[in-house]
Amino acid sequence: MQIKQVGVVGAGTMGNGIAHVFARAGYAVTLYDVEQRFLDRALDVIAKNLARESAKAKITTAQEAAALKNITPVLDWARLGECDFIVEAATEKIEIKSELFRDLDRIARPDVILASNTSSISITKLAALTRRPSQIIGMHFFNPVPVMKLVEIIRGLATTQATFDTVRDLAVALDKNPVEVNDAPGFVSNRVLMPLLNEAMYAVMEGVATPAAVDEVFKLGMAHPMGPLTLADFIGLDVCLDIMRVLQAGMGDPKYRPCPLLIKMVDAGWLGRKSGRGFYLY
Ligand SMILES: NC(=O)c1ccc[n+]([C@@H]2O[C@H](COP(=O)([O-])OP(=O)(O)OC[C@H]3O[C@@H](n4cnc5c(N)ncnc54)[C@H](O)[C@@H]3O)[C@@H](O)[C@H]2O)c1
Repeated sequence: MQIKQVGVVGAGTMGNGIAHVFARAGYAVTLYDVEQRFLDRALDVIAKNLARESAKAKITTAQEAAALKNITPVLDWARLGECDFIVEAATEKIEIKSELFRDLDRIARPDVILASNTSSISITKLAALTRRPSQIIGMHFFNPVPVMKLVEIIRGLATTQATFDTVRDLAVALDKNPVEVNDAPGFVSNRVLMPLLNEAMYAVMEGVATPAAVDEVFKLGMAHPMGPLTLADFIGLDVCLDIMRVLQAGMGDPKYRPCPLLIKMVDAGWLGRKSGRGFYLY
């Protein structure tokens, strides 16, 4: 089957970026969310980001206009039934994703592959909720999606080679670099990254160094473009905590224990950049 119409479920930070890159690559995109204001906000962000790319001559003005035209925002769930491939990028909650995968399995044609952009939830578990476990896969984009080259492609236990090949080819068509990973808590990216961020938080909590000093060590000593605490604020401290909890539960190893300071900050509503306060003030 040739993939022409791509469904994106969830129009938040990641969903709008995923819609952007598919539309820019010439795919027709059906962008679904549960409220009109989320779709409006997504379209606004996509338009601004495309305009920035065009101003920097990364795309032409004709490509900018064509990409915007390729996106159809919808509140009508039934429209996803027209899609040849669907990526789910809704809120990182197992109950939300479980319900979505059951419903997507009902509405999508039997030959359609369903991908999830989840950061940590088991692809194998989501697949088992459907009648098409061989066509369920992780397609993990990175933020900001139009800029970051990596796509982690995660095979669930039942994912077939044909499904994997199709999604790898799609990532290449989006001008991304796919990296193959097997299903395991946090995959590779978050399994390695989150304990680093968590340990940096322990260093702050124990008074080893200030957030700015920890970040300087990583920027100047390890050539990281941003330090671990700046990155944690950028990702969202609530998201970091959720992922640490998935690692802790999935691995059963105390080394994945979330830093108590992280838990306290999330309880206080200090979620990083998005709430105006995290390890830094915004
Ligand atoms: N933010 C990141 O840096 C990042 C990076 C990689 C992967 N992810 C993953 O991407 C997914 C989305 O994260 P995000 O940061 O874009 O979150 P977000 O909160 O910005 O957006 C989530 C969107 O999903 C929508 N939504 C909730 N329930 C829905 C439903 N039933 N149907 C359709 N839409 C629904 C919400 O209205 C919201 O617009 C998560 O699984 C997350 O783990 C996030």
